Amino acid sequence: MPDAPVLYVLNGPNLNLLGEREPEIYGRETLADVQALCERAAPGWTVVFRQTNHEGVLIDWVQEARSAAQALVINPAAYTHTSVALLDALKTLSIPIVECHLSDPKTREEFRHHSYVALVAAKTVAGHGARSYELAVRAAVELAQERGLA
Ligand code: DQA
Repeated sequence: MPDAPVLYVLNGPNLNLLGEREPEIYGRETLADVQALCERAAPGWTVVFRQTNHEGVLIDWVQEARSAAQALVINPAAYTHTSVALLDALKTLSIPIVECHLSDPKTREEFRHHSYVALVAAKTVAGHGARSYELAVRAAVELAQERGLA
Protein backbone atom coordinates (compact mmCIF):
# COMPACT_ATOMS: atom_id res chain seq x y z
CA MET A 1 0.00 0.00 0.00
CA PRO A 2 1.37 3.47 -0.83
CA ASP A 3 2.28 5.76 2.08
CA ALA A 4 -0.53 7.95 3.43
CA PRO A 5 -0.40 11.53 2.15
CA VAL A 6 0.85 14.06 4.69
CA LEU A 7 -0.88 17.24 5.84
CA TYR A 8 1.08 19.80 7.85
CA VAL A 9 -1.00 21.93 10.25
CA LEU A 10 1.24 24.71 11.58
CA ASN A 11 0.35 27.14 14.34
CA GLY A 12 2.04 30.37 15.35
CA PRO A 13 2.56 32.32 18.55
CA ASN A 14 0.27 32.18 21.59
CA LEU A 15 -1.90 29.42 20.14
CA ASN A 16 -0.44 27.10 22.80
CA LEU A 17 -2.65 29.07 25.22
CA LEU A 18 -5.83 28.29 23.33
CA GLY A 19 -8.73 27.73 25.74
CA GLU A 20 -7.23 30.14 28.31
CA ARG A 21 -6.34 33.08 26.08
CA GLU A 22 -9.17 35.54 25.40
CA PRO A 23 -11.78 32.74 25.24
CA GLU A 24 -14.46 35.25 24.22
CA ILE A 25 -12.51 35.68 20.96
CA TYR A 26 -10.80 32.33 20.45
CA GLY A 27 -13.16 29.91 22.19
CA ARG A 28 -12.71 27.35 24.97
CA GLU A 29 -11.23 24.48 22.97
CA THR A 30 -7.57 23.74 23.64
CA LEU A 31 -4.92 23.21 20.98
CA ALA A 32 -5.08 19.48 21.77
CA ASP A 33 -8.83 19.58 20.98
CA VAL A 34 -8.02 21.33 17.69
CA GLN A 35 -5.40 18.72 16.85
CA ALA A 36 -7.93 15.90 17.42
CA LEU A 37 -10.45 17.74 15.23
CA CYS A 38 -7.88 18.08 12.41
CA GLU A 39 -7.01 14.39 12.60
CA ARG A 40 -10.71 13.47 12.35
CA ALA A 41 -11.18 15.80 9.37
CA ALA A 42 -8.45 14.09 7.30
CA PRO A 43 -9.11 10.34 7.35
CA GLY A 44 -6.42 8.40 5.51
CA TRP A 45 -3.90 11.24 5.93
CA THR A 46 -0.97 11.57 8.29
CA VAL A 47 -1.46 14.87 10.11
CA VAL A 48 1.69 16.61 11.37
CA PHE A 49 0.35 19.16 13.86
CA ARG A 50 2.75 21.69 15.45
CA GLN A 51 2.82 25.01 17.29
CA THR A 52 5.66 27.46 17.91
CA ASN A 53 6.08 30.91 19.39
CA HIS A 54 9.12 31.58 17.16
CA GLU A 55 9.01 33.03 13.65
CA GLY A 56 12.19 31.26 12.48
CA VAL A 57 10.92 27.89 13.67
CA LEU A 58 7.67 28.40 11.77
CA ILE A 59 9.72 29.18 8.66
CA ASP A 60 11.88 26.08 9.15
CA TRP A 61 8.72 23.96 9.32
CA VAL A 62 7.30 25.57 6.17
CA GLN A 63 10.56 24.73 4.40
CA GLU A 64 10.34 21.17 5.72
CA ALA A 65 6.81 20.90 4.29
CA ARG A 66 8.18 21.55 0.77
CA SER A 67 9.34 17.95 0.53
CA ALA A 68 7.47 16.27 3.39
CA ALA A 69 3.83 17.30 2.79
CA GLN A 70 1.12 17.17 0.15
CA ALA A 71 -0.88 20.04 1.70
CA LEU A 72 -0.48 22.76 4.35
CA VAL A 73 -2.92 24.42 6.74
CA ILE A 74 -1.39 27.36 8.57
CA ASN A 75 -2.57 29.66 11.32
CA PRO A 76 0.42 31.97 11.67
CA ALA A 77 -1.41 34.00 14.38
CA ALA A 78 0.12 37.50 14.63
CA TYR A 79 2.80 36.67 12.02
CA THR A 80 -0.06 36.67 9.49
CA HIS A 81 0.00 40.44 9.64
CA THR A 82 3.72 41.09 9.97
CA SER A 83 5.96 38.47 8.41
CA VAL A 84 7.35 38.99 4.92
CA ALA A 85 9.86 36.24 5.80
CA LEU A 86 7.00 33.79 6.29
CA LEU A 87 5.42 34.91 3.01
CA ASP A 88 8.73 34.31 1.21
CA ALA A 89 8.97 30.81 2.71
CA LEU A 90 5.38 30.01 1.71
CA LYS A 91 6.11 31.17 -1.84
CA THR A 92 8.58 28.29 -2.21
CA LEU A 93 5.84 25.67 -1.78
CA SER A 94 4.09 24.00 -4.67
CA ILE A 95 1.49 22.24 -2.48
CA PRO A 96 -1.88 23.87 -1.63
CA ILE A 97 -1.79 26.30 1.28
CA VAL A 98 -4.92 27.05 3.31
CA GLU A 99 -4.83 29.97 5.76
CA CYS A 100 -6.83 29.40 8.92
CA HIS A 101 -7.97 31.69 11.76
CA LEU A 102 -10.25 31.07 14.70
CA SER A 103 -11.49 34.66 14.74
CA ASP A 104 -12.15 36.82 11.70
CA PRO A 105 -9.24 39.29 11.67
CA LYS A 106 -10.98 41.44 9.05
CA THR A 107 -13.68 42.40 11.55
CA ARG A 108 -11.18 43.24 14.33
CA GLU A 109 -8.56 45.98 14.81
CA GLU A 110 -7.29 47.56 11.62
CA PHE A 111 -3.75 46.21 12.10
CA ARG A 112 -5.19 42.70 11.65
CA HIS A 113 -6.89 43.46 8.33
CA HIS A 114 -3.87 42.81 6.14
CA SER A 115 -2.63 39.24 5.68
CA TYR A 116 0.66 38.45 3.93
CA VAL A 117 -0.36 34.79 3.91
CA ALA A 118 -3.51 35.51 1.90
CA LEU A 119 -1.23 36.49 -1.01
CA VAL A 120 -0.22 32.83 -1.45
CA ALA A 121 -3.08 30.88 0.14
CA ALA A 122 -5.43 29.00 -2.19
CA LYS A 123 -8.13 29.64 0.41
CA THR A 124 -8.65 31.42 3.74
CA VAL A 125 -11.01 30.12 6.42
CA ALA A 126 -11.70 32.49 9.33
CA GLY A 127 -14.23 33.28 11.99
CA HIS A 128 -15.61 29.83 12.82
CA GLY A 129 -13.65 29.18 16.02
CA ALA A 130 -12.13 25.70 16.21
CA ARG A 131 -14.37 24.67 13.29
CA SER A 132 -12.25 26.90 11.05
CA TYR A 133 -9.58 24.19 11.30
CA GLU A 134 -12.01 21.46 10.27
CA LEU A 135 -13.09 23.47 7.22
CA ALA A 136 -9.48 24.39 6.39
CA VAL A 137 -8.29 20.78 6.63
CA ARG A 138 -11.12 19.57 4.40
CA ALA A 139 -10.33 22.30 1.86
CA ALA A 140 -6.60 21.45 1.88
CA VAL A 141 -7.30 17.74 1.34
CA GLU A 142 -9.70 18.53 -1.52
CA LEU A 143 -7.24 20.89 -3.18
CA ALA A 144 -4.44 18.29 -2.96
CA GLN A 145 -6.76 15.67 -4.50
CA GLU A 146 -7.81 18.06 -7.28
CA ARG A 147 -4.14 18.71 -8.07
CA GLY A 148 -3.37 14.97 -8.15
CA LEU A 149 -1.04 15.19 -5.13
CA ALA A 150 -2.98 12.67 -3.02
C1 DQA B 1 -5.58 34.55 14.87
C2 DQA B 1 -5.87 36.01 14.51
C3 DQA B 1 -4.63 36.86 14.64
O1 DQA B 1 -4.93 38.22 14.33
C4 DQA B 1 -4.09 36.82 16.07
O2 DQA B 1 -2.88 37.53 16.15
C5 DQA B 1 -3.96 35.43 16.59
C6 DQA B 1 -4.94 34.41 16.24
C7 DQA B 1 -6.86 33.68 14.87
O3 DQA B 1 -6.72 32.47 14.79
O4 DQA B 1 -7.97 34.20 14.98
O5 DQA B 1 -3.07 35.16 17.41
O6 DQA B 1 -4.70 34.02 13.89
